[in-house]
Amino acid sequence: MPRRIILDTDPGIDDALAILLALASPEVELAGITVTGGNCTLDDGVRNALGVVALTPAPATPVHAGVALPLLRPPFTAPETHGDSGLGYARLDPAPQPPAAEHAVDMIIREILAHPGEITLVAVAPLTNLALAVRKQPRIAELVGEVIIMGGAVSVDGNTTHQAEFNFFVDPHAAQIVLSSGMPITLVPWDITSKVLLTGAQVAQLRLIDSPITRFVAEATRFYIEFHELCFGFSGCSLNDPVALALAFAPELARTVPMHIAVEHASELTAGRTVVGYAGSTALPPSAHDMLGWDTGRWPHGWSRVHRPAANAQVVVEFDSERFVAIFLERITQLARGTN
Ligand code: RIB
Ligand code: CA
Repeated sequence: MPRRIILDTDPGIDDALAILLALASPEVELAGITVTGGNCTLDDGVRNALGVVALTPAPATPVHAGVALPLLRPPFTAPETHGDSGLGYARLDPAPQPPAAEHAVDMIIREILAHPGEITLVAVAPLTNLALAVRKQPRIAELVGEVIIMGGAVSVDGNTTHQAEFNFFVDPHAAQIVLSSGMPITLVPWDITSKVLLTGAQVAQLRLIDSPITRFVAEATRFYIEFHELCFGFSGCSLNDPVALALAFAPELARTVPMHIAVEHASELTAGRTVVGYAGSTALPPSAHDMLGWDTGRWPHGWSRVHRPAANAQVVVEFDSERFVAIFLERITQLARGTN
């Protein structure tokens, strides 16, 4: 039985790869794609999502425009990462299909109420749409099946400021609303996704198939790889959003631990920082154990009174990157062969 999924995006190159992976995965029934501002403007993101869907054998997949701007912070896009269009060097024909008439927030609410316990929401963008959905209809918090979020940086520097990962930085207020909503959250942070790389050589292998899909992947990732090599010294580009999508159909790729996650939203200096609560000694990296003296059983004076909030997320701490990239390449290859 395929999992019914809503993919909340800001397409964006890795979002586009996640859309292709979703449409290439038999375990996924894509109820729809929702869009918010983030990597690029809402209008560009909607156009990009429609254009990517039109490349596939599932052109009728609905694309719903959502909220354009963060709840309180000014808009913040990432042209240096995704290009001015949001899809790097790729240029897509205008899609024949218009966006759905229903607003993304209303679609999220309708789907979750109509399919209690069955909807998996994969959120790979600033969490503005999801925050407003849970504010408009709080019942979705206990009726949604699972919420898989790509966001945050638990024990590494952020990728947007040193303090913050992009999705949490753009709308920290929305992230805090979602993380404190009581939804069943699985969080895959930048710590993990930054290490799941697609290389130029792997893209060149894909490109041996003559298909609009492989042409798109090659042109979009050429820009994205150039950015990662320049900015992070990576030998490839991070498949952040496809990793989050894969947790919906291959959760065995990941090991998670329960943590309490909060997002700094009051300070300009540390806006979007991921703040980890002490939900359990296994939840924190070994470096924290030494700091806290947990392994010796001693608590620094007074620390035993530190508020230890209950976990609100299962956080991915290990991921089988090699196996996932092989799955990704195999499925994009199959999708492309079906359209060449
Ligand atoms: O930090 C990476 C995340 O922010 C990805 O989802 C990327 O597409 C951007 O939205
Ligand atoms: Ca994204």
